[in-house]
Amino acid sequence: MAEAILRGVLDARLAGGGDVCVGEPRAERREYLTQQFGVRSDQDNQVAAQGADLVVLAIKPQDLPSVFKQLHQKLDPGQTALSIVAGAKMSTLTQGLGHPSIVRVMPNTPAQIGEGMSLWTCSEQVDENKRDLVRSVLATVGRELYVDDEKYLDMATALSASGPAYVFLFIEALIDAGVYVGLPRDMATTLALQTVYGSTKLVMETGQHPAQLKDMVVSPGGTTAEGLQVLERAGVPAAIVDAVNAAYQKSIQLGQQ
Ligand SMILES: NC(=O)c1ccc[n+]([C@@H]2O[C@H](COP(=O)([O-])OP(=O)(O)OC[C@H]3O[C@@H](n4cnc5c(N)ncnc54)[C@H](OP(=O)(O)O)[C@@H]3O)[C@@H](O)[C@H]2O)c1
Repeated sequence: MAEAILRGVLDARLAGGGDVCVGEPRAERREYLTQQFGVRSDQDNQVAAQGADLVVLAIKPQDLPSVFKQLHQKLDPGQTALSIVAGAKMSTLTQGLGHPSIVRVMPNTPAQIGEGMSLWTCSEQVDENKRDLVRSVLATVGRELYVDDEKYLDMATALSASGPAYVFLFIEALIDAGVYVGLPRDMATTLALQTVYGSTKLVMETGQHPAQLKDMVVSPGGTTAEGLQVLERAGVPAAIVDAVNAAYQKSIQLGQQ
């Protein structure tokens, strides 16, 4: 995720390589990032964070305590910390860093190709200039949406952050289904991918309700009606609601640990 954001920011020329310093414990990874992106890097996170307008925390949740130890009360009043760590609440980040200016973001993996979805919130100490900077950074990896209530972050975790996995599962099943009825796998893959892509674009560009667009495909007594009633009978729509709700409950539970 850090690499996706780095690539987005550099490609959009929001910052030059020399403006960015990456804090990274592994030497070979530091070397890769320095060579690939022309950024500076340091194994000491405190050194990496020095002078940065935005200090991005893109580590696994289990590494947060050690990073808190390194950065506690080490950020300047003018600096803002931006965390993408799943489950790490604003209160945890504020206390752990001993710093009031905090942004919490829930991104997703399509950020890697600039088609991500990031929901974000921030503490009131983040001024309008910094909020604009955050918007610009997140816009380099896709769409961004600000919310003033943190409760939506757990919901976004379940929907947009976990969502790509649900969509990939659907795509995989659609390809396998094509093969099952006799299509060569490469042809099934092309058909499935363009169908999912085109259908998404159709909803976005027409602004029509998905149910309306679905009805347009269904002729009375036809093939689509036959397929849809199998999906309905198998409980697919309800299973999707249950899946997102289960991920939501898990996100709340992880945030309480
Ligand atoms: N992947 C997603 O779909 C997604 C979506 C939303 C949010 N997130 C959140 O994004 C965060 C990063 O996820 P990811 O998938 O990008 O994980 P990742 O690929 O494992 O990246 C974590 C990075 O942190 C580095 N790191 C480990 N300890 C560190 C330390 N003490 N100081 C500085 N850097 C350190 C790791 O370095 P090494 O490579 O040397 O170990 C690695 O490069 C997670 O908290 C996750 O919850 C992920």
